[in-house]
Amino acid sequence: MSIVVSIPGVDKTNWWIEQLQGLLPAWTIRSFHDPGDVEAVTYAVVWKPKTGAFLPFPNLKAIVSLGAGIDHVLADTKLPRQIPIIRTVGTDLTQRMREYVALHVLRHHRDMPTISANQRERRWKQLVVPPATNRTVGVMGLGNLGSAAASTLSALGFETLGWSRTKRDIEGITTFTGEAGFSAFVGRCEILVCLLPLTDATTGILDGRLFTRLPRGASVINAGRGQHLVEDDLLAALDSGQLSHATLDVFHVEPLPSEHPFWTHPHITVTPHIASLIDAPTGSRIVAANLERFEREGSVPDLADAERGY
Ligand SMILES: NC(=O)c1ccc[n+]([C@@H]2O[C@H](COP(=O)([O-])OP(=O)(O)OC[C@H]3O[C@@H](n4cnc5c(N)ncnc54)[C@H](OP(=O)(O)O)[C@@H]3O)[C@@H](O)[C@H]2O)c1
Repeated sequence: MSIVVSIPGVDKTNWWIEQLQGLLPAWTIRSFHDPGDVEAVTYAVVWKPKTGAFLPFPNLKAIVSLGAGIDHVLADTKLPRQIPIIRTVGTDLTQRMREYVALHVLRHHRDMPTISANQRERRWKQLVVPPATNRTVGVMGLGNLGSAAASTLSALGFETLGWSRTKRDIEGITTFTGEAGFSAFVGRCEILVCLLPLTDATTGILDGRLFTRLPRGASVINAGRGQHLVEDDLLAALDSGQLSHATLDVFHVEPLPSEHPFWTHPHITVTPHIASLIDAPTGSRIVAANLERFEREGSVPDLADAERGY
């Protein structure tokens, strides 16, 4: 079997090839830049592939997305649409996302941005916040990551709401579904966490209309995709006081350009797409297991639905 690997950055590509080769010693694993016999290549392992990247390989059986989202693969306008796409998901990713969401929800809940600003001014000011049991947090997207994050928030004591496309029953979480449930959901979220996949239906969902429906002074955490957020609407909502703070892990352009206003905004926390960053030693175990199973059985549970978009 032959695999080609494409990830931005030569060092990262080589790191993944080395890790995968250690787990799949009988497979030929090469970089997209030096693929060898293109007709022999049956799998492509990718993060943010270039447009037309798959065209040289006529015998691809599957594409592996090095992440939970497949938007970066579907963005290729020349993608051969019939090729199955395998997502890379697992307990390591959900654990990391649990940690990120708990960290930043607690940070918003306890108003750490204000406490940190006060420290810089040597200002001793005791802020009184309610206990988590009197704070309502909402999670948009209740898939692998969203459901794990919501359960973690519920275990911390937060009143936890969740919103998904189809009905989900998760212990301790009040769930809402589709358009019909959206207003009731957002109207209660004092802290809103976005863990949606990027699809036509979710692009730009974090916009001015949504922000005005949140309780005044609410905060937002976006660890989904940058294109979920309408950036100017966020700046306007922060300036007006409708929103108090935003923590953003994902951006329209990554890396976030150095001149971007988010870097220096007093009410925005920027993290560099690290909420649940997959590393080669951990991720290659998931990828190798999926490739071996796909080769054996012709399918895996982690297949994405390209029509649905996630
Ligand atoms: N920042 C990071 O480091 C990082 C890391 C990994 C992933 N991510 C992002 O997180 C996203 C979610 O990952 P996942 O593994 O949890 O995905 P997933 O298992 O596919 O779950 C997606 C969830 O979103 C819901 N959803 C999709 N479209 C919707 C819509 N139009 N309206 C309402 N709900 C909708 C789905 O509803 P149903 O339950 O009805 O299907 C499902 O609950 C990824 O796509 C990626 O963009 C970010």
